[in-house]
Amino acid sequence: MSTSAPPRAGHDGTLGKRHHVLFALGMAFVITLLVTNTTQSSMGLEAVDGIRSQSEQIDSVEHLLLRLLDAETGVRGYLLTGEPVYLEPYESATTALPKAIERVRQTFANRPSDQQRVTTLLALVDAKREAMSEAVARRTLVGAQSNDLVGRVLMDETRQHIGKLRDELAGEARASLEQSKSRFGLSRTLGNVFATCTMLLMLAVFSGTRRELELRERIATLQASEKRRLEDQVALRTAELSDLARYVNNAREAEKQRLARELHDELGALLTAAKLDAGWMGRRLPAELRAQWQERLDRLQRSLSEGIALKRRIIDDLRPPLLNEMGLIEAMRAMCEDFALGNELDVEVTLPDSIAGIDEERSLALFRIAQEAFTNIRKYAKAKWVGLSLSSNDGLVTITISDDGIGFDVAGTALDRHGIAGMRHRVQTYAGRFTVESTPGQGTRIRAEIPLP
Ligand SMILES: Nc1ncnc2c1ncn2[C@@H]1O[C@H](COP(=O)(O)OP(=O)(O)OP(=O)(O)O)[C@@H](O)[C@H]1O
Ligand SMILES: [Mg+2]
Repeated sequence: MSTSAPPRAGHDGTLGKRHHVLFALGMAFVITLLVTNTTQSSMGLEAVDGIRSQSEQIDSVEHLLLRLLDAETGVRGYLLTGEPVYLEPYESATTALPKAIERVRQTFANRPSDQQRVTTLLALVDAKREAMSEAVARRTLVGAQSNDLVGRVLMDETRQHIGKLRDELAGEARASLEQSKSRFGLSRTLGNVFATCTMLLMLAVFSGTRRELELRERIATLQASEKRRLEDQVALRTAELSDLARYVNNAREAEKQRLARELHDELGALLTAAKLDAGWMGRRLPAELRAQWQERLDRLQRSLSEGIALKRRIIDDLRPPLLNEMGLIEAMRAMCEDFALGNELDVEVTLPDSIAGIDEERSLALFRIAQEAFTNIRKYAKAKWVGLSLSSNDGLVTITISDDGIGFDVAGTALDRHGIAGMRHRVQTYAGRFTVESTPGQGTRIRAEIPLP
């Protein structure tokens, strides 16, 4: 017989290691994804801030240019017509100019690289303001002028300067927009890659787990079928052994019966004949020999009587006489009475009137169990009280023998003894149930249940 143990430990180890690696990889992916995401977000926010401040700067210089153009338009109208009505837009524009200049200063305050340029622009604006107020004054005092060359040149320069500045700022804004666009693109690609990796990882974990479950199931099925096989084998062997034990018991009982019969018939006849002959010889003995032979003849008679008694005892022992003659219940009662008398203890007997359907074989088994239990009580128990009860119920006959003796440790009892083992075997032969309960100092209780045929 060979049993193959499933290679469980090895598989578990490999699977465990694989799971650890996959878990570590998954964690690495998630952490990288988080880090890139956070970095990308803060970079994106920075870029948005930059673009916003660039557009504010463009706004501020354009606003300044507009105010300047308003003033210029007014001045030109006044120079041409000399109508004071044209001075109105000029004046309101020049009142608004300091605010516009201040705004330009503020929006460029955080750009040290452009300070030079801003200073140049503001100087140009100042110069233009001066030129305009001079032209207005001259027109008022002197009268019509052919043109205002200086003012025009200054205006062109200012416009060019602002145009360049604006173009540069717009270019920068475009560049940072492009940059953050490409960064977002990269972030998206990275996100996609990591998400795909995580998905693949999850798939791997899922399929790994499924394979592991399948493996475990297979192992469990294998183990279950192996267990069933072994159980079947044990049941088969037990049945075989029980059959064998039953056969041996029956054979032993049959042999005992044969021996008892032989002793009774052959040896009994011989001894009885010898005793008769001895009596006859005693009666016919001549008077002159009587004194000399009488004593020997008496001894011969006594020996033959003892031989006959011994033969009877042996026969009784081999074949419980009452069992055959009076049946199980009366034989039990007689045995209990004998036991009580012979050992000077109190025997409490509970017996039914009859047990319907019990056969000879089971009767003998129950009788032998009681016999062995009584032998053990006599040998070991030091009991003052013994209880025997026999009953039948639901096709089951039950015998219980209890004593109040010294008891013993059931688990620690040597296995090489045959009394209790024999009882158990007898019971198992009939697929019955056998229990021994005992605790040192607290007596012993033996119980056997045998199904009726
Ligand atoms: N009623 C009892 N009270 C106390 N001890 C007991 C009792 N019955 C059995 N034992 C203990 O259990 C042991 C096993 O009993 P068992 O009848 O199996 O073997 P045995 O009597 O020693 O030998 P065998 O019956 O083979 O001649 C005994 O040796 C004894 O120590
Ligand atoms: Mg014994």
